[in-house]
Amino acid sequence: MDRNTDGGLTDALGRPLKDLRISVTDRCNFRCQYCMPLEKYAWIDRHEILTFEEITRLAGLFVGLGVEEIRLTGGEPLMRHNLEFLVGQISHVDGLKDLSLTTNASLLAEQARGLAKAGLKRINASLDTLDRGKFHRLTRKDGLDNVLSGLKQATLCGLSPIKLNSVIQRGVNDDDIIELVAFARKNGYPIRFIEYMDVGNSNNWVSDLMVPKGEILQAIRKLFPLDEGARNDESAPSVDYRFRDGAGNVGIIASVTEPFCRGCTRARLTADGKLVLCLFSDKGFDLKRLLRGGATDGELVAAIRSLWSARRDRYSEERLEAMNSGEYRPNSKKKIEMISLGG
Ligand code: GTP
Ligand code: 5AD
Ligand code: SF4
Ligand code: SF4
Repeated sequence: MDRNTDGGLTDALGRPLKDLRISVTDRCNFRCQYCMPLEKYAWIDRHEILTFEEITRLAGLFVGLGVEEIRLTGGEPLMRHNLEFLVGQISHVDGLKDLSLTTNASLLAEQARGLAKAGLKRINASLDTLDRGKFHRLTRKDGLDNVLSGLKQATLCGLSPIKLNSVIQRGVNDDDIIELVAFARKNGYPIRFIEYMDVGNSNNWVSDLMVPKGEILQAIRKLFPLDEGARNDESAPSVDYRFRDGAGNVGIIASVTEPFCRGCTRARLTADGKLVLCLFSDKGFDLKRLLRGGATDGELVAAIRSLWSARRDRYSEERLEAMNSGEYRPNSKKKIEMISLGG
C-alpha cells in the first residue's frame, strides 16, 4: 500500500512525499569551505542541466503525487539566468501551496524585484557572520556588503519572511551568535542556527567542529530569554523558539544531535535531473534520462512512485546511533556533495 488517506504517496517508513527541493544549478559565486569542494568536483555539463520546461513538467507531476511545497536551491540558484521565468512557471502549478528559495543573497539586490513580481513570496538566506574579514575567509569571497544590500532590497520588495540560516562551527563563528541574533531581531528576520553537518565527502567534517543545539540555545538565552520550542509542522527541520519580549523567533536545525528523519517528507532533484531521496545519499535516480527519452507523464509518475514507495533513508538517525556507539566514521560512506543538492 503506497497511498495514504489523502491520496498522497508514502514511503516504506510511512512518510508522505510533501516537499520537493529543486537544485537549478550547481554553480556558485561563493566557495564556502563547509559546502564547496575545491578539487575533485566535476561541474555538471551545461547540456545536462534541466530546462525550465523540464523542471516545470516534473514539478507538476510531483504536486500531483502530493508535494505541497517546492524550494529552489543551488549551488546558488540566482546564478541560473532568468530564474524569475522559472518562478513564474512554477508558481502557476495547480495545487502548489508554497514556493520558496534558499540563496546566499549576494545577487538579490538586482534580482529581488523580478522574483517577487514573478510570484516568489519568501526566501531563506545564508549568513554566518557579520564580520567582513571572517565572511571573506568563510565564503572565500569579499561579499558581505552585497549580501546585506540584497537582504535590504528583498525586504523592500515585500519578500516575507526572510529567514536567515547560520551554520555554526566551533572556534570559527560560535562567537558571532549573539551579534547575528541582534541583527536578525533588529531587522525582523527569523534566524535559524544550523548544526554543522557531515554533508558530502570533502568538507573534512569532524564532530568537534559541530556546536550542538543545547550550547547554541544556552548562548542565546543568556541575553535573550526564550519560550519553549516547537516545530512549525511535524516535518520541519527547524525547532522554533519565541523571544519572551515578543521580538520574533529563533530556530535551531539540529540534524546531528536531534535528527528529524522520522518526519522527513523531502525529495530532492539535482540540476541534471537526478531524484535523490536523502541529503546524504550517494546517488540519485536519473529522471532526465526518462524525460529526454520521451517518457509519458504516466511513466514518469510510475518511476517516482516506485522510488518513493521503497524509500527507507534515515541517515541522520543512523549517524546518531553510530556516534553513540563509537562506530561513526565521517567519510566511510560516499555522499553527493552539498553544492549539487543545495541542502
Ligand atoms: P523552511 O521551509 O523555510 O523552514 O526551510 P528549510 O529549513 O526546510 O530549508 P533551508 O533550505 O533553509 O535549509 C536549512 C538547513 O536545513 C540547511 O542546512 C539544510 O541542509 C537543512 N535541511 C533541510 N532539509 C533537511 C533534511 O531533510 N535533512 C537534513 N539533515 N537537513 C536538512
Ligand atoms: N552543514 C550545515 N548546513 C550547511 N549548509 C551548507 N553546508 C552545510 C553544512 N555542512 C547550509 C547553507 C545554506 C543551506 C542550503 O545549507 O548554509 O543555508
Ligand atoms: Fe555557495 Fe551556499 Fe555552498 Fe556557500 S553554502 S558555496 S553560498 S552553495
Ligand atoms: Fe531526511 Fe535524510 Fe535528512 Fe533524515 S538525513 S531528515 S532522511 S534528508
